[in-house]
Amino acid sequence: MAEVILSGVNKRFGETEAIGDFSLTIADGEFVVLLGPTGAGKTTTLRLIAGLEKPDSGEIRIGGEAVMDLAPAARDVAFVFQQYSLYPHLSVYENLAFPLRSPIHRVSRDEIHRRVLEVARMVRIDHKLENRATRLSGGEMQRVAIGRALIRRPAIYLMDEPLSSLDAKLRAELRLELKRIQKELGSTLLYVTHDQIEAMTMADRIGILADGKLVQIGTPREIYGNPANLHVAARLGQPHINLLPPGLLPGTSEPAGTKTIGARTEHLQLLTTGDANAKVAWVEHLGDQNHLHLTVAEHKLTTLADPHIAFRSGDRIRLTLKDPLYFGAAGERLT
Ligand SMILES: Nc1ncnc2c1ncn2[C@@H]1O[C@H](COP(=O)(O)OP(=O)(O)OP(=O)(O)O)[C@@H](O)[C@H]1O
Ligand SMILES: [Mg+2]
Repeated sequence: MAEVILSGVNKRFGETEAIGDFSLTIADGEFVVLLGPTGAGKTTTLRLIAGLEKPDSGEIRIGGEAVMDLAPAARDVAFVFQQYSLYPHLSVYENLAFPLRSPIHRVSRDEIHRRVLEVARMVRIDHKLENRATRLSGGEMQRVAIGRALIRRPAIYLMDEPLSSLDAKLRAELRLELKRIQKELGSTLLYVTHDQIEAMTMADRIGILADGKLVQIGTPREIYGNPANLHVAARLGQPHINLLPPGLLPGTSEPAGTKTIGARTEHLQLLTTGDANAKVAWVEHLGDQNHLHLTVAEHKLTTLADPHIAFRSGDRIRLTLKDPLYFGAAGERLT
């Protein structure tokens, strides 16, 4: 495993700046997740590290070595693509074994067999080892693709939204499993996604990507609790952060220049007594929790409600703020 460094990397496709002045150091054994919306430059970043694209400028180092002139095969990376690509004429077993069969690796038959079974169990595909790759569901193909990367021990694993085609239950299981495997192997892993739950649960550090720029990088706790700006704050939190004008709700002490107040669920206090200032518009029952949709004057807010309190549409309640986030005119965070 190895440290990976990108310094001042730029990549354009014609008019589009896919990645701009991108610098990031991924420590040996670190799990970094890049979180960003569609078109933010996530796949491009991975392809640059893998050598499938050439940067216009800047430097990429893997394990101390500048790799810009190395072909993809010489870079010692394992890539799980967004569009999984298996060898269709091969069985699941042979797809998994493939990366170890290359003569340069010199892995014995017995060792290959052992590793294939081990990895197949990890990604829960051991019951379909004899199936052809084409005779699998999308989620099964994706698991084979993950397994085919995990079977090697490269300098770095690059994973491009590998869980996005799986159902929610399997996604939650494999999230935990991937994190466990990465810790156990001490692997360096760069993972990209637009799923905030994946980022929050797996990452040692999350990098927030927007329009090809790395806006902020830090531990999940830092990114969630101490966002640098409105864009970062809005990437995380379920329900979505409420953006309110100053003065709408009591309980704040706004710094000078406050243009927007960011209120997540934990920043909103609901009282059923006192002067009512909010109205329940409707309640969404999600089973384990309730989303409460509120109106304050003409503004709409969403928050979580205690499932033991039976709110109903039309109920009037008192809403106050407690230590919300403050943002200035350019969306910058104020403290
Ligand atoms: N080969 C290409 N030719 C032209 N433009 C490209 C090419 N590859 C990417 N782009 C552009 O670069 C930008 C970043 O693309 P990229 O694929 O890295 O985004 P992404 O964050 O992976 O998005 P998604 O979540 O949709 O996969 C986009 O504007 C995209 O249209
Ligand atoms: Mg992509």
